Amino acid sequence: MTNQTQVSELSSQLKRSKERFEEYLEKDAYPQFKKDSATELADAMEYSLRAGGKRLRPILVFASYGKINEDSLAIGAALEFIHTYSLIHDDLPSMDDDDFRRGKPSLHKQFSEATAILAGDALQAYAFGWLSKIESSDPNLHRDLLLLLAEGAGAPGMVSGQMYDLLLERNPSSLVGSKEELLVKTHRMKTGALIGASFLMGNRLRSDFQSRSKIIQEYGTKLGLLFQITDDILDIEGTKEDLGKTPGKDGKSGKITYPSLYGMDACKQMVLTLVSELETLGSEIDGTSRDSSEFSDFFVSLPANIGKRKN
Ligand code: IPE
Ligand code: IPE
Ligand code: MG
Ligand code: MG
Ligand code: MG
Repeated sequence: MTNQTQVSELSSQLKRSKERFEEYLEKDAYPQFKKDSATELADAMEYSLRAGGKRLRPILVFASYGKINEDSLAIGAALEFIHTYSLIHDDLPSMDDDDFRRGKPSLHKQFSEATAILAGDALQAYAFGWLSKIESSDPNLHRDLLLLLAEGAGAPGMVSGQMYDLLLERNPSSLVGSKEELLVKTHRMKTGALIGASFLMGNRLRSDFQSRSKIIQEYGTKLGLLFQITDDILDIEGTKEDLGKTPGKDGKSGKITYPSLYGMDACKQMVLTLVSELETLGSEIDGTSRDSSEFSDFFVSLPANIGKRKN
């Protein structure tokens, strides 16, 4: 559905957003960490953030707001802090036990397990504090952003998703429901909730946020599912160089994933179906921001990019 012009426009939007976000971290985040923290803690947070990553969640904030400014950068940072802490903890020996992340040794390998736990804790607190940098005369803005972040990141979202993920792997008989139902719920919560929050928080900065929030929510939930299904596929088909993390981990630990439950062919068909459903929703969303957005055709072009991603 997307044409060549839209594909190259999307890649320049992604590139520009990532560059602006890296500059922001250099200027605003790393110096703040240094100023506030025990040296080992600042070094650890910076190590994990600097290791790279696609910065997808900040980019979703910018696109959903329609521009990159100090407010959307601050929200993007809050989400990237939560996401990075979730990866640090996800890699711990008691969780997925992964030695490699973002092209480097995992934080607990490079520093220590205790430092990795504490760096995650500190990043999580920074995420909520960072929202105070947003200046607005809207009396409800901060409250709404805090709730969206807390719901996406915490027990109603990502953390319960991580709990279900581990229980599905280690103690499935403790859970009620079919494997299929439990897996879709896990993926929606562990990955979809924070991706959904990114879209909704960016959208909340707009004056017309109310009229778009239902469709943005629907799009975010679907994109989150697409993103985690492609993550499961890449664990089988990806390379260590492309992924920056060790492939084949899910199979080794006996994790229930989309490919293990449905088979690879069916998964790829699901990816195509989700991409096409998202393109339909995406063109509707793009239509609501045509006059004001630095991110024209973003929502219609993103799904195919995620569906075909290599990292
Ligand atoms: C990896 O997320 C973990 C999942 C939620 C699937 P990303 O693929 O966005 O990781 P980075 O940020 O690019 O390293
Ligand atoms: C992680 O899912 C989701 C998080 C909330 C961190 P995975 O465990 O599949 O992520 P990777 O494959 O280690 O990046
Ligand atoms: Mg995991
Ligand atoms: Mg993992
Ligand atoms: Mg994975």
